[in-house]
Amino acid sequence: MTEEIAVIPGDGIGGEVVPAAIEVLEALDPDFEFVEGEAGDHVLESRGEALPDETYELAADADATLFGAAGETAADVILPLREAVGSFANVRPARAYPGVDSLRPETDLVFVRENTEGVYSGIENEIADGVTTLTRVVTDEASRKIAQYGFEYAEANGYGDVTVAHKANVMRTTDGRFLESVERVAEEGGYEHDEALMDALAMHLLLRPEEYGVVICPNLAGDVLSDLAAGLVGGLGLLPSANVGEGNALFEPVHGSAPDIAGQGIANPAATVLSAAMLLDHLGYDGEAERVRTAVEAVLKEGPRTPDLGGHASTADVTAAIVDRV
Ligand code: NAI
Ligand code: MG
Repeated sequence: MTEEIAVIPGDGIGGEVVPAAIEVLEALDPDFEFVEGEAGDHVLESRGEALPDETYELAADADATLFGAAGETAADVILPLREAVGSFANVRPARAYPGVDSLRPETDLVFVRENTEGVYSGIENEIADGVTTLTRVVTDEASRKIAQYGFEYAEANGYGDVTVAHKANVMRTTDGRFLESVERVAEEGGYEHDEALMDALAMHLLLRPEEYGVVICPNLAGDVLSDLAAGLVGGLGLLPSANVGEGNALFEPVHGSAPDIAGQGIANPAATVLSAAMLLDHLGYDGEAERVRTAVEAVLKEGPRTPDLGGHASTADVTAAIVDRV
């Protein structure tokens, strides 16, 4: 069955790295139909809105979406797009690659972050002059959903260590609920795991990343800890991500539109190509996904490399090398 893939390059280097990833996908000849949608700063300028309804609908109706990056309108574009695909899980692998300078070469972590509630519920108030509050929402349903997804992800991807991050010793009701829901899912499914206080975990991830695999996190903790792990592997140009919903999903590099290098043809396509590999996984093209990852790894190790990794190659050179290996 032909899968419809929404392709939304967005602004800046999004328009360079997304076509690169499509080139890699096309080399695998999957049964995909690519349909392009527009979004971002340049669309706000030309049409008065950063995310036209038809782009939202395109993502909502597609089997999966590949997104590049937006510029200043990022929040107006990516938040509704995540909603369009009904995303409840944000999956962010942070992995060190041979040949790439990293603080901790033994890092191979995947953050599975709850993507709908917690402190990002948007319920903030100014209750008196100079006094503000935030309501933290934690539900059984969302907590169970992220737990189930995280445990299954770990199993499917060969990660033995699963850690649940929380701060239930202080946020007893909300994170207490989160932890209890996750533990119940673990018990029902017979999933082995550890739990860790998120602050202590931040330190341990820095000191001994090799002891961790999949980390299941509430929303804010996942946001912070995954950025910390990005620092460990030392390359924004390398980090892919997935926003997973029921049946639908959106894949995007972690980086933004990089206006400082946009238009020069030197953006590293690896993060977006690795996001496309996650898209292949999601649609059941497991063998193809593995071929893409192996090809990217080989090119990172042996070159050519873009300037962010100390090389002199262009986006096109690196893409061609990946396509060759695929
Ligand atoms: P950025 O990720 O665009 O760039 C940070 C630094 O990393 C820059 O020096 C850039 O050249 C470099 N970099 C990023 N991706 C690279 C790649 N693939 N290859 C080589 N170098 C790369 O973050 P920044 O500068 O904070 O934001 C720039 C714009 O992007 C802003 O307008 C921001 O709002 C937007 N943004 C959008 C995001 C999204 O659409 N999801 C996420 C983050 C930022
Ligand atoms: Mg963040």
